[in-house]
Amino acid sequence: MIKDLIKKALDLKERAYAPYSNFHVACVVMTKSGKIFEGVNVENAAYSPSLCAERNALSTAITQGERDFAYIVITGDSDYTYPCGVCRQFIREFADGDTRIVVAKDSENYKTYTIEDLLPESFSKKDLE
Ligand code: THU
Repeated sequence: MIKDLIKKALDLKERAYAPYSNFHVACVVMTKSGKIFEGVNVENAAYSPSLCAERNALSTAITQGERDFAYIVITGDSDYTYPCGVCRQFIREFADGDTRIVVAKDSENYKTYTIEDLLPESFSKKDLE
């Protein structure tokens, strides 16, 4: 399962729109019900409107009414491309303790985290209750 998601993400990287950084990132998410959604980074000539692959994939899923994620798989042009700080906070909103965040070099080499690993002591919707 994880390996299939990683392969999908590696292929998807080709669709990244990254003419400015030339750094390609892809994210494939799988919901707990088994649905798959994809996102790539989308850059912009004005730079700051650029969108990361993770927020693109999650927003695509959320637009389809999906909010429970089993896997969030990330691959990019560095050996292990970790989600940026903004994406960690974005993931925090939708990840629970069972959500596996997979940072993949290739389908044989990957590391698996929870959001608590990547963003400990975070601010979240719990604070607003
Ligand atoms: N990028 C992502 O898509 N996800 C991350 O978490 C790290 C950075 C993108 C943003 C930009 O298009 C390029 O990688 C270089 O920073």
